[in-house]
Amino acid sequence: MTSEVIPALRLTDVGVVRDRRPLLADVNWTVAPGERWVMLGPNGAGKSTLLRVAALYLHPTQGTVEVLGRRLGRVDVRRMRHRVGYASAMLSDRIRPTISARDAVMTARHGALEPWWHSYDDGDRQRAADLLVRMGCGHLAEQQFGLLSSGERQRVQIARTLMTDPGLVLLDEPTAALDLAGREELVRTLDALSADPATPPTVLVTHHVEEIPTGFDHVLLLREGRLVAAGAIGEVLTAEHLSECFSMDLELEHHRGRWWAHAAG
Ligand SMILES: Nc1ncnc2c1ncn2[C@@H]1O[C@H](COP(=O)(O)OP(=O)(O)OP(=O)(O)O)[C@@H](O)[C@H]1O
Ligand SMILES: [Mg+2]
Repeated sequence: MTSEVIPALRLTDVGVVRDRRPLLADVNWTVAPGERWVMLGPNGAGKSTLLRVAALYLHPTQGTVEVLGRRLGRVDVRRMRHRVGYASAMLSDRIRPTISARDAVMTARHGALEPWWHSYDDGDRQRAADLLVRMGCGHLAEQQFGLLSSGERQRVQIARTLMTDPGLVLLDEPTAALDLAGREELVRTLDALSADPATPPTVLVTHHVEEIPTGFDHVLLLREGRLVAAGAIGEVLTAEHLSECFSMDLELEHHRGRWWAHAAG
């Protein structure tokens, strides 16, 4: 008897319509255990919308969403959401600037923003501190969240996504607003994270192929709310697909596990 592998995420014929405008259409996408996905696409393609659907913050107008074998609409969404670690600029903006970095991580345990909303024990505090160490910012545990640099804040946010021991991690543009060194350091950290078999299946949204950590093995290209292509990086990340996705004639280079794209000619 073969045991069926339960995908971390399965979207079937997903569509999102707002003000009669389709923001997403005909999205079929499966994230299997152990996979690390990059989602690429131009501004306004629908990347954040798709991630919010996967994070169970946005109900699609059409189609079905399954996270770790549970179907949205059939199970308590708050319990399902607990199994997904999600980081985005919108969520980060809602964290009170005077909260400590450790509390910003720890409060994810209950999907909360303030430590006094729930009670936490020493185990929770220790787990949050350990996750900050894992993300290379253990020394910032007592620092106020609002005083952190953009790069430090992104690391704290990624630590926050891991607090509930989720079965799926979704990161919306963690490399935005970082300088070159900050970006490279974060890419290296994401690389190490992706190499750890204990890290849950992960989806990373970015605009730039240069920001794909070497350990990421799958790519989804989105354009005007529709998939251009999705699958193993070696097959899907081609100059042809990228040119179609960004509506520009592009050339693509691959060197030592990293990617570069530039206008053709
Ligand atoms: N709640 C909403 N109501 C109406 N339109 C929306 C809503 N949320 C997003 N949109 C629109 O949907 C489109 C896709 O937005 P989305 O934020 O998903 O794009 P994105 O690919 O993440 O872009 P970026 O790279 O700039 O972050 C945009 O045109 C946006 O204006
Ligand atoms: Mg976005």
